[in-house]
Amino acid sequence: MLLAGCAAEGGTPLYLDPQQPVEKRVDDLMKRMTLEEKVAQMAQYVGIEHMKAAEKEMTLEEMKQSHARGFYPNLHSSQLIELTRQGRVGSFLHVVTHEEANLLQSYAMESRLKIPVLIGIDAIHGNGLYRGATLYPTPIGQASTFKPQLVEQASRETALEMRATGTHWAFTPNVEVARDARWGRVGETFGEDPLLVGRMGAATVRGLQGEDFTREDKVLACAKHFIGGSQPVNGINGAPCDISDRTMHEIFLPPFRDCLDAGAFTFMMAHNELNGVPCHTSKYLMQDILRDRWKFDGFIVSDWMDIEQVYERHRTASTLEDAYLQSVKNGMDMHMHGPDFADKVVSLVRRGDIPQSRIDHAARQILTAKFRLGLFENPYIDTRQVAETVFRPEHQQTALEMARKSIVLLKNENNLLPIDRNRYKKILVTGPNADNQTILGDWAFVQPDSCVTTVIEGLRRVSPQTEFDFFPFDTNLRTMEMSRVRQARDRARKADLAIVVVGENSMRYIWQDKTCGENVDRYELSLVGLQQELVEEIYHTGTPTIVVLVNGRPLTTEWIADHIPALIEAWEPGSLGGQAIAEILFGEVNPEAKLPITLPRHSGQIQTYYNHKETSKWFKYGTGKSTPLFEFGYGLSYSFFEFSPVVLSDSQMKENGSLRASVEVTNTSNRPGTEVVQLYIRDCYSSVTRPVKELKDFRKVSLQPGEKQTVTFEITAKELSFYDIDMRYGVEKGEFEVMIGNSSRDVDLQKEKFVVK
Ligand code: BGC
Repeated sequence: MLLAGCAAEGGTPLYLDPQQPVEKRVDDLMKRMTLEEKVAQMAQYVGIEHMKAAEKEMTLEEMKQSHARGFYPNLHSSQLIELTRQGRVGSFLHVVTHEEANLLQSYAMESRLKIPVLIGIDAIHGNGLYRGATLYPTPIGQASTFKPQLVEQASRETALEMRATGTHWAFTPNVEVARDARWGRVGETFGEDPLLVGRMGAATVRGLQGEDFTREDKVLACAKHFIGGSQPVNGINGAPCDISDRTMHEIFLPPFRDCLDAGAFTFMMAHNELNGVPCHTSKYLMQDILRDRWKFDGFIVSDWMDIEQVYERHRTASTLEDAYLQSVKNGMDMHMHGPDFADKVVSLVRRGDIPQSRIDHAARQILTAKFRLGLFENPYIDTRQVAETVFRPEHQQTALEMARKSIVLLKNENNLLPIDRNRYKKILVTGPNADNQTILGDWAFVQPDSCVTTVIEGLRRVSPQTEFDFFPFDTNLRTMEMSRVRQARDRARKADLAIVVVGENSMRYIWQDKTCGENVDRYELSLVGLQQELVEEIYHTGTPTIVVLVNGRPLTTEWIADHIPALIEAWEPGSLGGQAIAEILFGEVNPEAKLPITLPRHSGQIQTYYNHKETSKWFKYGTGKSTPLFEFGYGLSYSFFEFSPVVLSDSQMKENGSLRASVEVTNTSNRPGTEVVQLYIRDCYSSVTRPVKELKDFRKVSLQPGEKQTVTFEITAKELSFYDIDMRYGVEKGEFEVMIGNSSRDVDLQKEKFVVK
C-alpha cells in the first residue's frame, strides 16, 4: 500500500504525475521529505545576480552595515548556488532577468526531489523591477480611477508579464489604509478609505490569481503588510503603531479581509509592532485572526529580514534563534530572507520547541502553491516568448487608459483647461518632473526610454502644432539652483502659457535622490528643493500657469491651490503617463478621477481624513483654515454634473431588510463626461462614536451632453453595521443619513434620512 501510495506506474513518483490531484501530490511529496527539506521550503533568498552585484561593489564591512542587506556577509553567491542544488532553497526574490529565473530553476532541478523554486517580486503596478515591463499608475493613482475592473485587468496583464519572465509571486496588493502622508509608502496604497482600499485590493488579487491560480498565466498575490504600518509614529516606516482594537476592526482589518475573500493565498507581515507586539511574532494576528477567525488557508511570509528585527530592534527576543522560534511557532511560514533561518529552525524542531506540525503546515501550503502554479510540470520559461508578452500593445493600452482615468483635476479657474491651442501657441514646459522616469513611481527600476512617455514627450506627441519651449531641471530636487529657477522665469516671460511639472522623486535606483517611496519618509510635506520658488517665480511673470504634480503622496500645496489657476494631481501615472497628462491638458481626454485620499493644507494637519469623528472638527485652528486642501472623493471634470435630491424607496428599514436610494445625475455641459457617484452613510446616534460619513458604494456613469441617468444604490445591513459597545458586529436601530454626490464634501452631497426599526 505504501508503494502504491508513492509511485505511479512505471516508477514515476506520484507527486510528479500531473494527472493526480494536487492534494495527493503534496501528500506524496511530503512523505518523501526530510525535516531539512521541509524547512528549506520556508527559506527564501535574494537572487544570485543581486548578490553578485553586491559582492562586486561592496566590502564585507559595507555589507554588514548596509541596511538594505540584500546579500549575505557570510554566504557567497557560489555557495547559494550549491544550496539550491541541494534542495535547500524554497524561494527567491528579486530575480530581475528571465535568464536568471531559468538558471535558478535548473539548479533546483538538480536537487534530490526536483522541487522547483518559487520566485517572488514586487510587481505592484506592473512588473516594474523587470527592465522593459509595462508600468501602470502606482496604486494611489489606480484607486483614483474608482474602477476596480481596470485594476483587475492591469493585474491580469501583470501576471502574464511576470510568468513570461519567470516569476510567480507578486508582493502586492498593499492594502494598508493610509493615515499619515509623511509615510513614504502612501503611493503604494489605495488611499485612506477602507471600502475603496478593499475593493481595489480584491480586484488586484482576482487579476493576479484568477480563480485559484491553477494556471500557468497566474501568479500568487500577497496581501501586505499585516498590519498597522500605515499609521506609524511620526510617519516613519516600521515605527510602532498603537491602534485600538476598535479602529483595527473598523478601519485596518476590513481591506485584508476583502483580499482574503478574493482568494489571496499569501499574506506578508508588517515591519512594525502593533500595540507592543512585533507583527512578525504576533499570535493574535497570524493565528487568532488570520487562521482561526478568518480560516486563512494559504501561507504567511515575513517582510525583508524582519524576523531578525525582533531580536535586533524590537528586542522581544534575546537571540536570533528565539526570534525564529517565536515567529514560526506563532504562525510564520516563510522567511524573507537569508541563510540564518533554516538551520536554526531545524534545531528548534529537533529540540521540540517548534512543533513538527507547524513545519508540515508551512511546507504543505508552499508546495500546494508550486503545484497549482504548474511549476512541477515546467519550471522554465520559453525565453522566445518574453518579447511577445512584455510591454505588449494591449498592455500599453491598459496602462494608458488607467493613467487617463487616474489623473485628478483639482482646480480649473476660468476654464484655463483644456488648453486653447489657438490662443496659447508658445508654451514653456519646465520643472524637475517634466522629463524623467519619476512618473513610474517606486518599485520600478530604470526602464528603456522607448518604453516611457515623459510629460514633455507626451505634450509634443499630443500637440505637434504647439511650440514648446522646454527648460529642464536635474532630477535631484535637493540640489536645484536659484540661477536656473530665474532662467526658467525669464523663459516664462516669453511664453503664452507655462506648464510647471513638480512633485516628488520615487526613483529607487538613485536612492540618494529619492524624496518619496519606501523608507523615504518626511516630517513636512511641502515641495522639496526650490520647486515652490520655481512655481512662484513663474506665476509672478503674469504668464498663465498650470501646475502638474507628479508625486506618490499628498503634498501641502496651499499657496499653489490659492494662486495657480489650474492644478493637476497626476500621481505617478506609469509608462504612458506623459501622454495621458498631455491628453488631459489639451482636452482630448476629459478627466474623471477622484482623490482616494484627503490632501492636507499643512503637515500639522495629518489625519484629516474624511471619515473622521465629529469632534475632530470641534474647534477651528486659531491660525489657519481647518478644512483640508482637497477632500477625499473630489476631482473635477471638463463636464458639469447636477445631482437631484435623494429618493429613498422607504423611510424605514428593518434591521435585516434593505432599501434603495436613488439620485438622478445630469450632464449639464456640452461635453461627454464621466462622474463617480458616491454613496456615504452616517449612523446619526449610536452606542459608540461613529464617523461623520463613510463611503459605502460608488458607481461610475458616463453621460453625453444633456443626458440624465438614475443611479440606485441598495442599502442593506452590510452598509449599516459596525462594532457596537460590546464589539458585536451588527446594525443598531435608529436614524441614518444617506448622502450621495460627487465628493465627500458636504456641499457636494444630497442628503436624506431613514430609520431602522
Ligand atoms: C518591503 C516589502 C517588499 C519586500 C521585498 C520590503 O522592504 O517592505 O513590501 O515586498 O521588501 O522587496
